[in-house]
Amino acid sequence: MLRLHMNESPYPPSRISLEYINKYSNLLNLYHVEQLYEELLDELSNYVGIDKKFIDVFASSSSILTLMLTYTKIIDSGLVLTHPTFHIIYHLLDNYGIQPAYALLSRMDFTLDVSKLVEVSEGRVVYLINPNNPTSNLLLEDPEALRRVARRAKAVFVDEAYYEFSGLTFRDLVMEYDNVAIIRTVSKAFSLAGARFGYLITGEKIKKVLSGLRIGYEIPITTQAAVLGALRDSYYMREIVSKIIETRENVKKALTSSGLWVADSRTNFLFIDLDKPCRKYWELLKQDGILTLCLENIERLKEFGNYLRVTVGRPEEMDLFVEKLLKIL
Ligand SMILES: Cc1ncc(COP(=O)(O)O)c(C=O)c1O
Repeated sequence: MLRLHMNESPYPPSRISLEYINKYSNLLNLYHVEQLYEELLDELSNYVGIDKKFIDVFASSSSILTLMLTYTKIIDSGLVLTHPTFHIIYHLLDNYGIQPAYALLSRMDFTLDVSKLVEVSEGRVVYLINPNNPTSNLLLEDPEALRRVARRAKAVFVDEAYYEFSGLTFRDLVMEYDNVAIIRTVSKAFSLAGARFGYLITGEKIKKVLSGLRIGYEIPITTQAAVLGALRDSYYMREIVSKIIETRENVKKALTSSGLWVADSRTNFLFIDLDKPCRKYWELLKQDGILTLCLENIERLKEFGNYLRVTVGRPEEMDLFVEKLLKIL
C-alpha cells in the first residue's frame, strides 16, 4: 500500500539516528539517562535557535495537544480553533466536553481573517496550525498579527508541525509573550513519526502548568537517542525536505494543468479540490493500493467533502498517484 494518508515521510530515518538507537538501547533498563537528555536539550536549543530554558520535550506533539485541552479545561477557559483544523482535535473536543469558538477560514482559498481571530481570542486559549492541516497553506505570516492575538488571548498555541517545509516560525515571540507556545514534531521532516517525539517552545509560565499535568520520564531512551542522531544529521533532513518540496510542486503543476484547484502548500502534503465528493475516488485509489485522506469521510469535515488531502511521497510514487487520479476522474 502506498501511504499518502498520514503525512508521514516517505524516506527512512537518518543513519545516525539508527546508530544512536543501537548505541543507547543497552540502557533501556533505566528510566532516565541524564547525559543523553542534556545533550538532546542542547542540540534542540541549537537547532531551534533559542535558550534551552524555553524548550520542553514530550512523547509526540499529539500528547502536547491533549495537555493543551486539559489545561483549557482546568482553567475553565474557552478554546478558539480555525475551521477546518486538524481532524483529531474535533474528536477530542467531544470527549473533553469543550465547545470551541471558531475562526472560519475563507471558503475561496482557506485564508484567515486575522481581525476575526483577534476578536474571538479575547480571554480564550487559541490553537492555530501554521501552515494549516488539512488546508496546507500558511494562515499567519506577519508576527504582528500573532502579537495582536497574544495580547487578547489567555494563551496561544501555534502548531508548527510543518515548520521545516514552510521555513516560517514565530519562535521569537515566546521571548516577548509568556502566553505564547510553539508546538513542533520530528514526525514529518525528520522522518521519525514512529519515534513519537514532539517539543514545545515557550516560557516558564506555560512550561510549569503543563509539567504539572505530567508524570515525567515518558520519552523512551531510544527515542531520545533517535532524535539526537537526527538533529546531528540535519543535512540529511534538509535534503529530504527539498526533495519533498520539489516533488510537491511538480505534482501541483500536473494537477493544476489538468484543471484541478490545489491549495498553495507550505507543507509535505497537498489539498486538492476534486470538484465533486471525494469518497468514490478515495475508494478507487484505495483499490489501486493508494491511501489518501478524503474529507467526506470525516464527520466534522463533511462540508469540505470535495477535498482530498494527499501526502507527498517519492517522485515515482507521486507519478503513479497523478496518473491514477487523473484516469479515474
Ligand atoms: C498539525 C499537526 N499537529 C500534530 C501532528 C501530530 O504529530 P505527532 O506525530 O508529533 O503526534 C500532526 C500530524 O499529522 C499534525 O498535522
